[in-house]
Amino acid sequence: MDLERQKQIKEHFEGMYQAGEKPWVKHGAEPALDDFFRVLSQKYPKAKILDIGCGDGWISIRAVKEGNVVWGIDSSETAIEEAKEAAKAAGVANTIHFQVGDALNLPYEKEFFEAAIDRGLFHHILPANRTLYFQNILKVLKPKSLVYLSVFSTKNPEGIGERFTPELIKELFGQYFRILSASQDPYPTLAPAHLLHFILERTQNSK
Ligand SMILES: C[S@@+](CC[C@H](N)C(=O)[O-])C[C@H]1O[C@@H](n2cnc3c(N)ncnc32)[C@H](O)[C@@H]1O
Repeated sequence: MDLERQKQIKEHFEGMYQAGEKPWVKHGAEPALDDFFRVLSQKYPKAKILDIGCGDGWISIRAVKEGNVVWGIDSSETAIEEAKEAAKAAGVANTIHFQVGDALNLPYEKEFFEAAIDRGLFHHILPANRTLYFQNILKVLKPKSLVYLSVFSTKNPEGIGERFTPELIKELFGQYFRILSASQDPYPTLAPAHLLHFILERTQNSK
């Protein structure tokens, strides 16, 4: 485990939110996210969803508008303030629970969620802390729950964070999840990042 370097990454993001910089929001159309909500609504029409590293809450708000109940967690206080304001402005504050917290110390009950969204967090979890990441999400997810995962590809042009091939994601997540679909952004990308997208289904009970 390397929680000291992980703390520096959290501080990096808090600094970005304070400076008003969040390039990941300007990513453009993400058909895989539409697919995820379609698959989710068929399997769990009113899911309890965890949005891990929820940032300013834009995906949480969309998820609530799709008929779900959402818990969004992010280590950045500024991001969570923005998310709460955005939920109020969208009139959905009652069905979203935003809180400051750490993905590596999730404060939720065992097997509480039918789904989780990790868009842009996993590639910021240091390899030394991946086991802790999996322990946390596996604890709070129900068996057969669904996960939306977006990570930097090896073609990602800039920014801090790990880069992944589809094969490496299959190796890491395949221990606990079945890959229902895998896709990636068009390349060359006009967006600030090049992302791989996965819809996963949990296969194992927590350890
Ligand atoms: C690339 S941003 C993505 C934000 C959001 N998911 C989106 O797509 O707009 C990564 C987010 O993870 C948050 N983060 C980084 N480390 C974290 C940690 N250990 N626990 C919780 N959130 C974390 C950052 O504050 C940031 O909001």
